[in-house]
Amino acid sequence: MVSNPLLLVVLFILLNSCSSSSSSSAYNFPIAKPGCLDRCGNESIPFPFGIGEGCYLDQSQSFSVECNSSQLNFSGTHYPITNISLEGQFRTPNYVAYDCYGEGDQKVNPNHPWIKLGDPFIFNSTGNKFTVIGCDSIGVVEGTSYFRDYNTKSGCTSFCYLKEDVEDGSCSSIGCCQTSIPGGSRMINVTLASSSNNRFVSSFNPCSFAFVVAEDAFQFSADNLTNLESVVTLPVIVDWVISHNNCDEAKTNKSNYACKENSECYVEKGALGYRCRCSKGYEGNPYLGCQDIDECGNPDQCGKNGVCINTTGSYYCNCKKGYHQDAEGRCVEKNNNWAIIVG
Ligand SMILES: *[C@@H]1O[C@H](CO)[C@@H](O)[C@H](O)[C@H]1NC(C)=O
Ligand SMILES: *[C@@H]1O[C@H](CO)[C@@H](O)[C@H](O)[C@H]1NC(C)=O
Ligand SMILES: *[C@@H]1O[C@H](CO)[C@@H](O)[C@H](O)[C@H]1NC(C)=O
Ligand SMILES: *[C@@H]1O[C@H](CO)[C@@H](O)[C@H](O)[C@H]1NC(C)=O
Ligand SMILES: *[C@@H]1O[C@H](CO)[C@@H](O)[C@H](O)[C@H]1NC(C)=O
Ligand SMILES: *[C@@H]1O[C@H](CO)[C@@H](O)[C@H](O)[C@H]1NC(C)=O
Ligand SMILES: *[C@@H]1O[C@H](CO)[C@@H](O)[C@H](O)[C@H]1NC(C)=O
Ligand SMILES: *[C@@H]1O[C@H](CO)[C@@H](O)[C@H](O)[C@H]1NC(C)=O
Ligand SMILES: *[C@@H]1O[C@H](CO)[C@@H](O)[C@H](O)[C@H]1NC(C)=O
Repeated sequence: MVSNPLLLVVLFILLNSCSSSSSSSAYNFPIAKPGCLDRCGNESIPFPFGIGEGCYLDQSQSFSVECNSSQLNFSGTHYPITNISLEGQFRTPNYVAYDCYGEGDQKVNPNHPWIKLGDPFIFNSTGNKFTVIGCDSIGVVEGTSYFRDYNTKSGCTSFCYLKEDVEDGSCSSIGCCQTSIPGGSRMINVTLASSSNNRFVSSFNPCSFAFVVAEDAFQFSADNLTNLESVVTLPVIVDWVISHNNCDEAKTNKSNYACKENSECYVEKGALGYRCRCSKGYEGNPYLGCQDIDECGNPDQCGKNGVCINTTGSYYCNCKKGYHQDAEGRCVEKNNNWAIIVG
């Protein structure tokens, strides 16, 4: 009866498109405003980010993004962005700085890039590491913040004489060094220097490299002394907030306050301003509003002899008939004192 090939094909396409759109989402609740795109290629686009007017948080253009050839870019600056999280991060590619020396100690096409973020974004100072790769390498990273009128610097040095001394996975200043970046930076500027133009190590390390990178996206290997020559960018973690205001300031203007139903405002240590998160017992996108969690959806919530009761923002456990709660709240059989003596 269900042998109409056309019907089967149509059903297959429908099933396929349904499953691919739902299974590829990292969230089990709506993340975008109704009628707005919630993804671009593989990238999720949670509000306050959004494509087109009415889809991003309208109090600032900062969250306006566009999707071209499945690549998500900021509108206006056309800078690519990936891995937007509702916890207040995204990633963006960041250029690798290098200094190479050719015959006769000549510096060849040094590249000392800098990158500046728009408002209200800063480089995350705990998830990123300033990393210098090389055997005659002095790296400095300079950070510019919104608030200081001077720049803050940090840096590290890496030296070695033999390739054999360089250990995979170890950034302890022999071939690789790592340090933190200046906190609160909206712009970072990387520079590199050497002590003797790589003269004594040029056979296995003609170039020094330096970059700020998401710590989880880079694992040092001795091969990186040479194979980074073909790497143009590496991902860096950026923190986003709604505005520079703290929570008290944000709440004074109700029409601008971004934390919707069942959510709360918070300011994380080192953050530029406030963010929102769902109140305990709720889930969803706090910038659109959070929904009550059905804790009883978890069949083990109250144990096999318990009955789970979902309440607004929480839940509680009752016991099945013939059972009662012991001191720890577990459901045990009534009149079983002998079991306690034996156990
Ligand atoms: C999407 O993800 C798949 C699997 O991880 C990958 O092969 C593909 O290149 C990605 N597409 C884009 C546009 O990034
Ligand atoms: C990129 O996409 C946006 C909409 O997402 C569109 O308005 C814009 O014209 C596109 N730009 C290019 C260069 O294709
Ligand atoms: C997205 O950003 C990348 C890198 O800056 C750029 O090459 C590309 O042209 C941008 N795409 C659009 C459509 O603006
Ligand atoms: C970033 O997003 C891509 C595609 O959505 C995913 O495969 C990858 O695991 C994410 N990376 C991190 C560090 O979350
Ligand atoms: C980056 O730092 C170097 C050295 O301190 C300086 O010469 C250069 O002008 C800086 N670049 C920017 C864009 O600030
Ligand atoms: C570092 O070298 C390892 C081993 O050859 C390689 O797998 C890795 O991709 C390199 N890292 C980068 C950022 O290119
Ligand atoms: C509150 O926010 C609205 C919308 O952005 C703005 O027009 C208004 O001036 C703000 N009010 C105050 C007192 O800042
Ligand atoms: C920095 O990134 C880490 C790792 O993603 C995150 O746990 C932390 O909350 C971020 N810091 C701020 C100030 O957002
Ligand atoms: C139980 O959880 C659901 C979520 O699935 C929620 O919509 C509902 O309001 C909750 N029930 C009560 C009584 O709070």
